Amino acid sequence: MRPFFVDTLEQVLPRMNMTEQNTRGLAGVVAAETGLSFIDGAEGRLWYRGFDVHALAKHASYLESVYLLWYDALPAAIELSAFEGTLARQRALPPAVLDALRCLPADAAPMAALRTAVSALGQVDPEADDISHEADLRKAGRLVAQLPTIVATFDRFRRDLDLVDPDPELDHAANFLYMLSGTRPSETAARALDTSWLLYLEHGLNASTFTTRVVASTLADMHSAITAGISALKGPLHGGANEKAMEMLLEIGTAGSVPSFVDTALEQKQKIMGFGHRVYRTEDPRATHLRRMAEELSLEAGDSRWYDVSRRLEVEMFERKGLHCNVDFYCATVYYSLGLAIDLFTPLFAVGRTAGWAAHVMEQHMHNKLIRPRAEYTGELDRPWVPIDRR
Ligand SMILES: CC(C)(COP(=O)(O)OP(=O)(O)OC[C@H]1O[C@@H](n2cnc3c(N)ncnc32)[C@H](O)[C@@H]1OP(=O)(O)O)[C@@H](O)C(=O)NCCC(=O)NCCS
Repeated sequence: MRPFFVDTLEQVLPRMNMTEQNTRGLAGVVAAETGLSFIDGAEGRLWYRGFDVHALAKHASYLESVYLLWYDALPAAIELSAFEGTLARQRALPPAVLDALRCLPADAAPMAALRTAVSALGQVDPEADDISHEADLRKAGRLVAQLPTIVATFDRFRRDLDLVDPDPELDHAANFLYMLSGTRPSETAARALDTSWLLYLEHGLNASTFTTRVVASTLADMHSAITAGISALKGPLHGGANEKAMEMLLEIGTAGSVPSFVDTALEQKQKIMGFGHRVYRTEDPRATHLRRMAEELSLEAGDSRWYDVSRRLEVEMFERKGLHCNVDFYCATVYYSLGLAIDLFTPLFAVGRTAGWAAHVMEQHMHNKLIRPRAEYTGELDRPWVPIDRR
């Protein structure tokens, strides 16, 4: 009988399709079709469903942009208010999820708590395994409504504070800040958070979105895919960068210390968090708005320290490395100015991105093809079997 595994690598390779190429990190590889967003990395432009993100950041709210992404049309006023109302009524968490959050250690990373809670939501969702488009839309709505509640609830549990019920009169961002702090936020604060979520909403096949599509392509459910997306976002090379950027700004301390900090970091070949991008070769269009908001919030607070440090670092990085800042850089200053705990920055990125992930899950479910690439094998073949007593 022919042994199962007899070919040498030299025999196997010619039979493989030699047009297959190993592209490290899948840079430049087109792995899916999408109608959700388009990034022009050379020109630094981004469109959601064909609408320039600059126009959306100026005129639209986060939920208006979510509606656009899910339904491929700008909502009329009556449609938007019905959409907002439906989501506002679904903000409360089921008791099982509250219990799960209550059981977590107070020093758990909020991003890990969010991952656990979204997975727990999937356990109790009545439509968890229904992947029809209608059920996907309803589950996506519930997730978008409930993620801010998860973040606020975990934060209040760990600070040993009573929970604050969601207020259906408040919009999406204002309600989150209210549930977190117990006081109604200023209009500027709520608008800044809302716009940051709009800018985080969707960004093509980044690592976390690709992850959600891979999970969805096995015909797994929405909650599984979003849980996986949160896991991929957690790393410092992706969503974790906004927290690392703030820790770095605090370490630098003053604008005057920026040059020596950059000297040391570059000498030690360290990555400066919040700079560089796989796709953009010029300014990240999202950073333009976050820089403006960081400046406005600093002026309003009468303390421009962190904006000044950020600005100096931005100039220094461009002069020394030709690198532009990305979405996470000024977001750090914006969230810090809003008084948010640093370890909530990445969970808040996830809150904004969930609607984008959900849109990709729906797109994948509607036009599914299992995502299953190949790896370039770099090991040996036909190693001789050695019985255990002779190893
Ligand atoms: C985003 C990121 C992962 C893109 O990575 P990439 O496309 O694989 O690019 P590389 O990491 O290969 O970087 C290319 C070159 O730019 C340099 N570079 C890229 N980002 C850098 C940064 N933030 N600080 C210092 N140097 C950087 C690399 O050292 C490399 O230089 P070299 O060619 O001399 O070795 C990378 O820029 C990074 O790690 N940034 C910091 C983390 C971050 O802000 N992530 C959020 C992204 S939205």
